[in-house]
Amino acid sequence: MGVTLGIDIGTSGTKTLAIDETGKVLDSASAEYPCSHPRPGWSEQDPELWWQATKTTVARLLATGKFKPGDVSGIGLSGQMHGSVFLDAQGQVIRPALLWNDQRTAAECAWIEERAGGREALIRMTANRAVTGFTAPKILWLRNHEPAHWDRVRQVLLPKDYVRYRLTGTYATEVSDASGTLLLDVANRCWSRELMGRLDLDMAILPECRESPEVSAVVSARGARETGLAGGTPVVGGGGDQPAGGVGNGIVRQGVVSAALGTSGVVFAHADELGFDPLGRLQRGCHAVPGAWHVMGVVLAAGGSLQWYRNVLGAAEIAAAGARGVDPYELITAAAATAPAGAEGLFFLPYLTGERTPHFDPDARGGWVGLTVRHDRSHLIRSVLEGVAYAMRDCLELIREMGVVINEVRASGGGARSALWRQIQADVYGASVHTLGSSEGPAYGVALLAQVGANAYASVPEACDAMITQESTTAVDPAAKAQYDRGYRVFRRLYPDLKQAFLEMSKLVADQHQA
Ligand code: XUL
Repeated sequence: MGVTLGIDIGTSGTKTLAIDETGKVLDSASAEYPCSHPRPGWSEQDPELWWQATKTTVARLLATGKFKPGDVSGIGLSGQMHGSVFLDAQGQVIRPALLWNDQRTAAECAWIEERAGGREALIRMTANRAVTGFTAPKILWLRNHEPAHWDRVRQVLLPKDYVRYRLTGTYATEVSDASGTLLLDVANRCWSRELMGRLDLDMAILPECRESPEVSAVVSARGARETGLAGGTPVVGGGGDQPAGGVGNGIVRQGVVSAALGTSGVVFAHADELGFDPLGRLQRGCHAVPGAWHVMGVVLAAGGSLQWYRNVLGAAEIAAAGARGVDPYELITAAAATAPAGAEGLFFLPYLTGERTPHFDPDARGGWVGLTVRHDRSHLIRSVLEGVAYAMRDCLELIREMGVVINEVRASGGGARSALWRQIQADVYGASVHTLGSSEGPAYGVALLAQVGANAYASVPEACDAMITQESTTAVDPAAKAQYDRGYRVFRRLYPDLKQAFLEMSKLVADQHQA
C-alpha cells in the first residue's frame, strides 16, 4: 500500500495527513502552538514546538490503524517559509527562530541591496528584492545584534528542514523554500556563491539543496524511535508552504492562480519562465515542479486579521460558539453576512504586522477607516473580510500586469471554508472562485510530491491531474462586483494617504520602548 505522509509546519500549528496512491486522504491530524512577539514587529517560535507537534500528529495518524509504518512509501515536508533556525556544531538550536512575519531587519535589507550593487543587481542574482521577512537579513541581524549567538552558528535551516533534521539527521533543503532565503540563484536553481561572498557569509552554513520531489534523506533509527515511523522511509525535499500549496491546488500550469487564506494571504501563479521585474514587486522563486518557477504576492495578515478580531473583539462569539458546540468563526462570519456588500462605506486595512506585497513597508499599520454611528459588529467583521480581499486583489493586479489572464482562482486555506468569504473574493477579484476536493493545501501538496518521489507518478503535473478534483464554484455577482470595483479604488488611496502617519506612529512606539 503506497501511503505517503505530508507534514506541514505552519505558523499556528502543524498538520499531518496521509494519502493513498489515488490521492484519497486517509486521515489528518493537527496540533497547535503559540507564536511569541517579544517586541513590536518581532515574531519568533521555538523549533522544538514543531518537532513535538510533528511527533504528536504522526502518532495520532498511526493510532488510527488505517495504515502501518511499513506501508509508508514516502514523506513530504512543507512549512512556513523564510524562518531562520540557527544551529550550533552539535545541531542544537541556539535561540528561537525568527519567522516570516518578523519585521526587525529593515537596516539589514538596505545593507544587502547596497552590497549586491543595488536593488536591480540583487534581483538579477536572486530574483527578489530584500524583504524584511526573508532569511538572509535575519542571518545578518543575528551577526549584528547577537554576536555571542552568531559565533556558535554552524548551520541555518528553514522550519520544515529542521523537522527533516530531527527525522533523518540530515541537513537538506529544496529549491522552492530556498528561494525565500534570498540566498538562492533562482534562475540556476542553486545557492548564490556570489551573494554569499558579497555578504561575507560562509557557504558551509547552508544545507544541501535539491529539487522538491527528490528524496533528500531517509528516516534515521533515532527518528524512527521518536515518531513510530519505520527507519529507512524516504523523505522527499517537499516545499515551502506556498509552492507546496500551489502543487496541492494544481497550480502547475500557466493560467490558473490560487488564493490561499491562512495566517498570511497568498496569490500564487505558476510560471514557465522566471521573468524579471526591476522593481521586484512580486516574489519569484523556483516552483516545487522541477524546471518551473512561481510568482506570488503575500498579504502578511489575512486570516491573521480575522484571527486578531476573534481574539480581541470576539469574546461574545467565542462564548456563544462554546455553548452551541460550533467554531467561533462560523458565528463571526454569519454576523458579517447581515451587513451589505461594502459595509456601508467602512474600510479595513489589514496591515496588522506591516505589509509585504505591494507596499513592502514594515511600518504599515492596520485600522478601520470610515466609521460612523450606524456601524455595528457586523460591519466591522464584513469590512475585515473585504479589506483582506482588497489586499489580495492588489497582488492579483500585479500578476495581471504580467499579462496573465486570470479566469479562475482556486481558493484554499481556512478562508476558503467560509461561503461568504469565497463570494466576497469572487466579487472583489472579478473571477470565479473554485474549491477543490482536498482543501488541505501544503500538506496535501507534499504528500503528492512524496508519491512522485516514490515513483507512483512520472511527474508532478501528472500526479496533480490524477489526484485533484474540483468541489465548488462561486460565480461573480455582477452587481456586487461593480460595488467592489468602486470600493477598491477607495481602498487603494488609503495606504498612500496614511503612509507618513504610519511611520510616525512606529517611531512613537520605538521611542517609548527605548525610554
Ligand atoms: C510566503 C510567506 C508566508 C509564509 C507563512 O512568502 O511569507 O506565506 O510562508 O505561511
